[in-house]
Amino acid sequence: MSEPADPTDFRGRGVGTSDSISANPVFERPGEATELPKNRMPQSESYPDTAYQIVHDEAMLDGNARLNLATFVGTWMDDFAVRLYTESADKNMIDKDEYPQTAAIETRCWTMLADLWSAADPDNAIGTSTIGSSEACMLGGLALKRRWQKRRRSEGKSTEAPNLVLSSAVQVCWEKFCNYFEVEARYVPITLEHRTLDGHELDKYVDENTIGVVAIMGVTYTGAYEPVAEISAALDRIAADTGVDVPIHVDGASGAMIAPFCQPDLVWDFRLDRVASISTSGHKYGLVYPGVGWVVWRDKAALPDELIFYVSYLGGSMPTFALNFSRPGAQVLLQYYMFLRLGSDGYTRVQQESLAVAQYLAQEIAKLPAFELWNDGSDIPVFAWMLKKGYTDKWTLYDLSDRLRMKGWLVPAYPMPDDLADVTVQRIVVRNGLSHDLATALLAEIKTEVDFLDRLETPIPREGQPVLFHH
Ligand SMILES: Cc1ncc(COP(=O)(O)O)c(C=O)c1O
Repeated sequence: MSEPADPTDFRGRGVGTSDSISANPVFERPGEATELPKNRMPQSESYPDTAYQIVHDEAMLDGNARLNLATFVGTWMDDFAVRLYTESADKNMIDKDEYPQTAAIETRCWTMLADLWSAADPDNAIGTSTIGSSEACMLGGLALKRRWQKRRRSEGKSTEAPNLVLSSAVQVCWEKFCNYFEVEARYVPITLEHRTLDGHELDKYVDENTIGVVAIMGVTYTGAYEPVAEISAALDRIAADTGVDVPIHVDGASGAMIAPFCQPDLVWDFRLDRVASISTSGHKYGLVYPGVGWVVWRDKAALPDELIFYVSYLGGSMPTFALNFSRPGAQVLLQYYMFLRLGSDGYTRVQQESLAVAQYLAQEIAKLPAFELWNDGSDIPVFAWMLKKGYTDKWTLYDLSDRLRMKGWLVPAYPMPDDLADVTVQRIVVRNGLSHDLATALLAEIKTEVDFLDRLETPIPREGQPVLFHH
């Protein structure tokens, strides 16, 4: 049975008009199929070069990764990294016994991070690599839940109704955590006055069933830091008033790889006693290709033993804490390569450059009469802006996003979360590789397209236009 040929079919199978793919006539050989079904496994084999060409050509329809200013995830590494990647693509991270050196390197990496994040005794901290921040956040959340359960049980109290307190602007991985692991999500709405979770009225959300508070270093929607020290101080006051003592997990998906280098005096990490664990994406500002995250607990006491499984390692056993079993080991080696290659000075230089480009773009965009900045790219190299109230009824930021897409630039527009859902913002994520020169080219395109939209005589029709960007 063939699939319906519906060009609006977005069910993850690609958009197209036919249910088969034709091989380029250059590759046609006697006995080889020239048409391959798209959604069923072909009956017969293909030559590797034919299969390669088909996959290569299909992938060509994706956007240009370097012009993708929507993603936080690494889109460029140097040739030595690519060489390492190719050499180590066959390594499975879980096979600690077969790949003891990769296992040792994983430990070195998270120990370096524990140090970078000011753990009092990095060698006594504990951590792991993950597939990304989502898994790292889930593990951080699970440890919070288990610690709370253990404490409650030891006090003879109910463990029926755990809750987690977090900003309404959290990344979707936290909604997943709460859903999958049955924890009530207590969202603190962000507002124009309180643009991030900042400790304001935290006592209304925290109670004896709160397993923890999530503080985000680099809110996905805007890039702004949540003031972890203020959140911690608010929790100190709650503890003093009520005896309810709540730990913090810092979701530093982006910021935990920016702040230590570019804002070393900002206190957000293990310098705050309440911070039990910190997670980050190695594949964001850790500057590695997709597929690596990290989570570190301040000390062994912060990670309950029962969550740890043991895998065989050099005739003994090695503790692991992960949701996945098999996953790529190559990215961990790439992370180590980047740590050695750049060192602290190199990371500082690279991240400063991205911050400089972000701030330049933000300043220039702020000069355009159509726009108002939400933030200016001074936390992580990410910033968002809004259309000025009353500026136009002809176009929106979604239209500008569409126009820029025609030129190859992906600059998403989307609504802010719940209580601010009527505010639409457009965001640029500056990563290593968006040079000053490319930024100037982007700025010129933005000006051209705003000019085009301003000259419209009637509003752009918007019925049936889907909102395509999700965090
Ligand atoms: C604040 C925050 N947390 C978690 C995540 C999820 O990260 P990952 O894509 O590495 O799973 C993101 C991704 O953008 C994020 O911005």
